[in-house]
Amino acid sequence: MASGPIYDSMVQEYHENGFVVAKGAFNAEEIGLLRRAAKEDRELDQHSYGRSDGEGGTVRLSLWNHPGDTLYGMFARCATLVNSAEKILGGEVYHYHSKMIMKDAKVGGAWAWHQDYGYWYRNGVLYPLLCSASIAVDAATRENGCLQVLSGSHHLGRIDHVLTGDQAGADLERVHEVEKRLPLVYLEMDPGDAVFFHANLLHRSDQNRSDHPRWSMICCYNAARNDPYKEAHHPRYTPLSKVSDAAILEAGLRRFSDAASNVAWLDPKKDSSASSLAQQPAD
Ligand code: SIN
Ligand code: MN
Repeated sequence: MASGPIYDSMVQEYHENGFVVAKGAFNAEEIGLLRRAAKEDRELDQHSYGRSDGEGGTVRLSLWNHPGDTLYGMFARCATLVNSAEKILGGEVYHYHSKMIMKDAKVGGAWAWHQDYGYWYRNGVLYPLLCSASIAVDAATRENGCLQVLSGSHHLGRIDHVLTGDQAGADLERVHEVEKRLPLVYLEMDPGDAVFFHANLLHRSDQNRSDHPRWSMICCYNAARNDPYKEAHHPRYTPLSKVSDAAILEAGLRRFSDAASNVAWLDPKKDSSASSLAQQPAD
């Protein structure tokens, strides 16, 4: 059974540092199910897209806006994640999108320093009242390009983003000054751990030169009271139907090949607001 919502002391840690890790948010059976389903999922693979990282590598991901009734949807809608996001954001949340970050062994690309709100701001989202839950599908280590964060950087507010390779990243002159002042944290995680992080937290990750894949599923939530003022390639307020944590294993009883059915994949080639210069590949 998933671990349940994060404690109040963890919410406080989130507000101080801009992130908090929930160790063992999902148990071995639940995360094993997600890993097998995702890695055998041809649809997920076929809907993945990549963009140059400006360092000779390519990042790869699949992204979808509405959680649906699939196994992926059960993770995004489960009480453990949604109740935690509601504690963090101080009220009702809705699903902004989910994505699978596929950082494959040997070839997985790097992510430039960025804040997610650097992009979401352009989608008519007025406040940085969003948080992401990144779930370790595989073990995440320094060797296979785990997430790195600058602890406390969410207090800086939004930083301008500029294009590097195919990725728009945070203004590096400013980031280098921030690096001198704030601790860099490598978020090494075991499968089933989840990290909740603030939309203005500066984060990046290295290429994966190791023999081990590093896949993560990231579920992003926006506060219901922060409904974007205009249409963009991610949804405006749409009520989120929570499910119990038990729904994850129940969904696992269905065939893995059903995992991707009814997923409305985002295709950046077809969606002009997603393919504009201002968007990051994971946006
Ligand atoms: C990562 O998981 O390495 C970063 C992905 C993201 O920023 O969405
Ligand atoms: Mn990001």
